[in-house]
Formats: sequence, structure tokens, C-alpha cells
Amino acid sequence: MSNYHIKGLEEYYQVYRKSVENPELFWEEIAEENFIWRKRWDTVLEWDFEKPEVKWFEGAQLNITENCLDRHLYHRGDKTAILFEPNDPKDPAEHITYKELHKRVCKFANVLKDKGIKRGDRVCIYVPMIPELIVSMLACARIGAVHSVVFAGFSSAALRTRINDASCKMVITSDGSFRGSKTIDLKGIVDEACKETPSVDSVLVVKRIRSEVHMEDGRDHWVAPLLEKASIDCPAETMEAEDPLFILYTSGSTGMPKGMLHTTAGYMIYSSYTFKNVFQYREEDVYWCSADIGWITGHSYIAYGPLANGATSVLFEGVPNFPDWGRFWEVIDKHKVNQFFTAPTAIRALAKEDLSHVMKHDLSSLKVLGTVGEPINEEAWHWYNNNIGKKNCPIVDSYFQTENGGIMLSPIAYATPTIPTYATLPIPGIQTCLMDEEGNEIKGNQVSGRLCIKFPWPSIARTIWGDHKRYKDTYFSTFKGKYFTGDGALRNETGYYRITGRVDDVIIVSGHNLGTAPIEDAINEHPDVAESAIVGFPHDIKGNALYGYVTLKEAGKQRNPDTVRKEINQLITENIGAIAKLEKIQFTNGLPKTRSGKIMRRILRKIATGEGDNLGDISTLLNPEVVEAVKQGNQLM
Ligand code: WT7
Repeated sequence: MSNYHIKGLEEYYQVYRKSVENPELFWEEIAEENFIWRKRWDTVLEWDFEKPEVKWFEGAQLNITENCLDRHLYHRGDKTAILFEPNDPKDPAEHITYKELHKRVCKFANVLKDKGIKRGDRVCIYVPMIPELIVSMLACARIGAVHSVVFAGFSSAALRTRINDASCKMVITSDGSFRGSKTIDLKGIVDEACKETPSVDSVLVVKRIRSEVHMEDGRDHWVAPLLEKASIDCPAETMEAEDPLFILYTSGSTGMPKGMLHTTAGYMIYSSYTFKNVFQYREEDVYWCSADIGWITGHSYIAYGPLANGATSVLFEGVPNFPDWGRFWEVIDKHKVNQFFTAPTAIRALAKEDLSHVMKHDLSSLKVLGTVGEPINEEAWHWYNNNIGKKNCPIVDSYFQTENGGIMLSPIAYATPTIPTYATLPIPGIQTCLMDEEGNEIKGNQVSGRLCIKFPWPSIARTIWGDHKRYKDTYFSTFKGKYFTGDGALRNETGYYRITGRVDDVIIVSGHNLGTAPIEDAINEHPDVAESAIVGFPHDIKGNALYGYVTLKEAGKQRNPDTVRKEINQLITENIGAIAKLEKIQFTNGLPKTRSGKIMRRILRKIATGEGDNLGDISTLLNPEVVEAVKQGNQLM
């Protein structure tokens, strides 16, 4: 078992070495000793990054829900699996035991079957952070259906695109959701989305806020009465190791989101292994990840990873500032949380508030703190370390992507000495390298370059749903034979990595991965807009915020600029969601372009970040004269 649970730095280096020298043996031992299989594999790994194709544990059969639920029933049946903390602290928390979760998943799975869902069918889940979200994901996995969770903050248009891309047969949603003092009409958003979703036969509706909603005859069903009638007996479907488990969308460099497809065995092994090690989870611990399950962090580190380890995982419906800015600390105190995992953007927002919100609560149960989703700045790191961890809790700055399925680089708590802003070392099995722009590997330390992975790990996404060519082009074509993350990184003198940020058209805003293309598409829908370009610029709380350069048509130039700005942000909210709204909108008379007509974002980025005097040679542009005008416009922002 020592392979599975690393307890010190020396052990980490030993295990890492083994994982690189003989990756197949390494993962095989982990698979053998820590999971239950219906049939053993024939081969551990087959791969070819040229095709690209990756297959782990071919020939093996299993069901991930047996690993997350059934096998815990005997030893941990009465242990809390999901500790649900509702939006309003006046409402009671709910302790859902492994026995109870198993029962609820089986019943839900029978409802899915009853509504015609079969192995391989796609089910879209658009549900807030309530137990039914996890229950419905596991219910899909139980019967071999593929879940596609869409973050319940996305707009109806974004939801529709995702439902149609995967031809989902069913949508699971709720009447609405609570968000601090507000409620959100989720069912209304689903109704709007489902006006043009030919593949959807049925919509299951969970009651949460008890609002009046429209129920479409023959299509929509309240879940509660169906669950009441459903049997608690639902044998788990026998799945192949490489059968699809879920699709999760992430943004890319075109308007179409990328449906990353994760498969069963490899994802299970890797999410479980990283959870146990990064957080040093122990049997009696209460663990809390405050991310939304609509993102990969929630899939791997609220649901699958913790449950595969028989952990107690807190599911928090609320927001950090309701009823006040002490809410996170109150939850930690109330449930005696041992490991707390959140996003740098939340830490920066919390650090701006009065420390009395922290001081009111006893945080002495904490052993490990984590951050994920974006680079953490030094100031936020120290605030977290001093005020939350009281300098007693290692901070695991963990780096990964939707495409990766699980944490790729991170300190192992209590094993890896931490340095602020460093994601430190690769997880065993992750063969990182840095590449230069010419495609050569940069060896040695104290260097920086583009972060790539040389060898497959078990939870790498296997394809982009319906578009294998895009999968190849996006991840395996920039550097031959390597997976390219799209991030820049530096490696310091001791081999620690620090992620420096995206080197492509993706901007991370408040930990949300936003592509510039879909936002520009939304803006360009405005009848007065001629063209637009989005760049990121540094923001105190959000990490990055969005800066839009917009050229208006003649008619638009006559209108009140603030009205047009509002309309543009409204269009973005409708097409993508409020998370993608622009912080600043500068109207321009033209955008700098290359001779081939490509907008030079590099120049726009520099202007937006106040480095407009340092643009380098712009004489090769198609229209160098616009640059001065854009710079002047920026001064007025
Ligand atoms: C992008 C992936 C990890 C799940 C949530 C985001 C950035 C992620 C870190 C970190 C610096 C980070 C990268 C990456 N990122 N974690 N610890 N330090 N940057 O998943 O939406 O797929 O976004 O988030 O730029 O490529 P995602």
C-alpha cells in the first residue's frame, strides 16, 4: 500500500522515480490493491500520442459506483459520505451516509431506466449544489449512461449548445436554485434552452426552491413521486475500462466549447489516488472542496475522488458572503473541517473583508489548505497561510485542467515543502517537461517554457466529443508527441514548477476558464458592432478581468456609449453567462491587424495592461496607424 499513500518527501521522490521508470507496473499495483474489479485487465496501457489514442486497463470490467458506494457499505455504511450544508445557515445540514447515498443512487438510477435511459445515452445535468447533483451523476454511472454536467450559472444559450453537442436524451434540473439572498429560475432557463433541442425526450425536475414552474406535458416530470415508487435495488451495469463516464465542457479557441470525454477505470484510479495523497486524507477526516461540481474540480474532488476513498465530503450550496463574509469560516467551525480546498479568487475576495469575520470562528480543526484553478499571488497565499491556516497547515497549490481529470502538479501535504505561488512538483506518473517555441525540450533548472506532458496518465481525456481532429490539433500538434497544456511555467533551481499562465486565447477569470472567441461571437451579434477583440488584464480579486475593444458601425457611434456597453454585456450574459461580462469596454475606430488580417491581441493586451509604451516593432502591421488611437482611447478608460 505504500505506493498509494506517500508520507514524506524522500518517499515522494522514490515513488516518482518508480512511476517514471515503470509506469505500467506502478499504476497496475495501485489498480490491484485499491479498487474492485469484475474482471481483470489484459493490458495496462496502450498509447500513441500521434493518433492520438490512450487506453488504460483494456479488458478490465468494473462499475465506478461499486467502488464509490457498494464496497463501503460493510465497513463504512453509517459513515457520512456527503455532508450537505445548505445555502441558508438557518436550515439544517444533512448527513447522508454511505448506506443512504447508495439507496438514493439506486432509486434514481431506476427512475432513469424507467424514463428510457440506457447504457451509452447522454444525460445533461443542470442542477445546483444539492445532493441530487451527486446522486444523479452516480445514477448515470450506475447504469452506464454518460453524464454531462453543465454549471448551473451558464445561460440558456450555452446550455442548449452543450445539450445539442452531445445529443443528450434527458435533462435533469431543479425548479430553481438559492444563491445567497437570491433565487434563480433554473427551470425557466432549461425551458428556454429546450426550445431547440431535438434529442431531449424528458426533463426531470427536482424540487428545491418550491417555486411555480411550467411543466411541459409528456416531457417534464417531478422527480420526487418517481423516486418514491422506485425500487432500491439496482444492480450496477458492468462497464469496460474505457467506456465513457462523463463529458465536461471547457472553452477553447473557437466559439464551440470542447466536450472533454473521460472514461471509467483510469479516471477512477487517478482522481482517487490524487485525492488521497494531495490532501493526506485519513479515515476520520471531514474534507471540504468549495468548488462547483459544474467544473472538473468538483467532479474529481467533491464527488468521485473522495467517495472512492470512503471519505466524508462537504457539499456547500451557498456563497462566501451570505449571510456575511464569515460563512466559509462558520462552516469549517461547525463541521470541524480538516481539509479545505478553494479558489484563489475566493481567497482574494475574503482577504479584502474585515478579519473579525475570521476571528469569530474556531478554525483549529484545519490540517490542510488547498487552492486550485488559477495562479495564486503571494499576498493572497500569505493571508490564507497566516489567518486561516495559522501557519500550521500546508497549502497545496494544485494545478490541473478539465482535460487532465485530476491534479497534475501539487505539493503533497506534509511531504512537499511549499513555496508561495509554486505548484511545486508533478504527481507520480506525470512526466512534465518545458518546451521552447521552436519545439525543443528545455532541460535543466531555472528555466521557463511551455508546459507539456510526455507520457499518458490514467485520467487524460480521451477525445473531444464528436471531434477527434480538434482534440489532436489542440493538444498534440503544437509539440510533436507531447500533450501541450496551453500554460507557461518556470522551473526553479530545485525543480519546482510555477505556473505563469495561459499562452493561448484562454483567459482565467475568477478561476473560470473563458475563451475569447465565444465572447467575441456574442458581442458581434450586436447590430451596431463591426468587430471586437477581448484580452485579459490583471484584477485585484478576479486575477484577470476582461477588457473588450469594440469597433462600432456608423449608426452605433451616434448612440450613447454607456447604453451600448450595457447592451453588449447583456448579450454576453444571455449567450454565455454573467461570469463572462466585460469589466471595461473601449470603443475603437479600428484594431491592429497582421497583413493576413489577424487581430494582434498581443498589442491589445499590452495596451490594456498599461504597457502601451513598450510595444516593440509595429511597422509590419497592416494598419500601424490605429495603434496610437487605441493607446489614446485606453488613457481615457
Ligand atoms: C486552467 C485550467 C483545475 C480545475 C479548475 C480549472 C489554470 C488551474 C492552476 C494553478 C495556476 C492554474 C491553468 C489551466 N490553473 N490550476 N494551481 N495555478 N494556474 O480547470 O477550467 O480546465 O482551467 O486553469 O491555466 O490551464 P479549467
